[in-house]
Amino acid sequence: MLVVGSDILQKAHKEGYGVGAFNFVNFEMLNAIFEAADEASSPLIIQASEGAIKYMGIDMVVGMAKIMSNRYSHIPVALHLDHGTTFESCQKAIEAGFTSVMIDASHHPFEENLELTAKVVEAAHKEGVSVEAELGRLMGIEDNISVDEKDAVLVNPKEAEIFVRESKVDYLAPAIGTSHGAFKFKGEPKLDFKRLQEVKRLTNIPLVLHGASAIPDYVRESFLNSGGDLKGSKGVPFEFLQESIKGGINKVNTDTDLRIAFMAEVRRVANEDKTQFDLRKFFTPGMQAIKKVVLERMHLLGSANKIS
Ligand code: G3H
Ligand code: 13P
Ligand code: ZN
Repeated sequence: MLVVGSDILQKAHKEGYGVGAFNFVNFEMLNAIFEAADEASSPLIIQASEGAIKYMGIDMVVGMAKIMSNRYSHIPVALHLDHGTTFESCQKAIEAGFTSVMIDASHHPFEENLELTAKVVEAAHKEGVSVEAELGRLMGIEDNISVDEKDAVLVNPKEAEIFVRESKVDYLAPAIGTSHGAFKFKGEPKLDFKRLQEVKRLTNIPLVLHGASAIPDYVRESFLNSGGDLKGSKGVPFEFLQESIKGGINKVNTDTDLRIAFMAEVRRVANEDKTQFDLRKFFTPGMQAIKKVVLERMHLLGSANKIS
């Protein structure tokens, strides 16, 4: 069942757990994510970036999401636009049937971010669609970073309070030291949990962690064993994900883990049988690998068995 993003995240916010928001770029990723949600009895957020929409076509994205949400009608699912860059992009997603959109104007000055977010919120709420925005910049923080440097990069909790009150945004992604992709930390992993707690206290809305892939050891190994290279890569440790949820994170954005798990299997099959060209022989184990990661994550974040 396709539901509004806030339906899923308000419950998670009140009960204190995290819901995985998983990116997809094709049927295989989507199918694996749904199978995991079904097995975990977990609510679900599926998300498509502007790049994913360009790749699949917006009608295909919404069409597949609707078909899968009908197939698993007992699972509450929100279809979310990940990192919408313009008002028009959000508007198109809303018109096409997305139930949640992100307007990412975090690289603009605070006032511009606020103004654009408020405009998207007004348009989205008219259609019963919820909105996510972001404050701060997504990048890793080093141990020796100064207080001033940290303040220049990460979310400012007081600004977050004003931003949420004035924009009426439904959920907020505060930058606390994560980044996208497989190379998140140069040294030891480090996130600003105190800042996160302060944002939660001052805003009291669902919060979002971007760049939340963990790169679990077995996923890394499967990629390396297939002949892949992940030198220097580092994900968010599981303990940090749990600590983030305690600090108020309710939406946990995950893409890289799924990509690595899937591609490790595709390469393994390609290496093992050089005569193979049946796509299904590559993609079936790829889907199983994604399903395992998603299932495990749903239990870790606390969304398993939260369908009611
Ligand atoms: O936030 C980034 C997501 O992983 C989507 O990435 O723009 O390559 O589809 P993409
Ligand atoms: P990862 O690259 O850590 O999977 O983050 C994905 C994300 O934040 C999508 O918005
Ligand atoms: Zn992101």
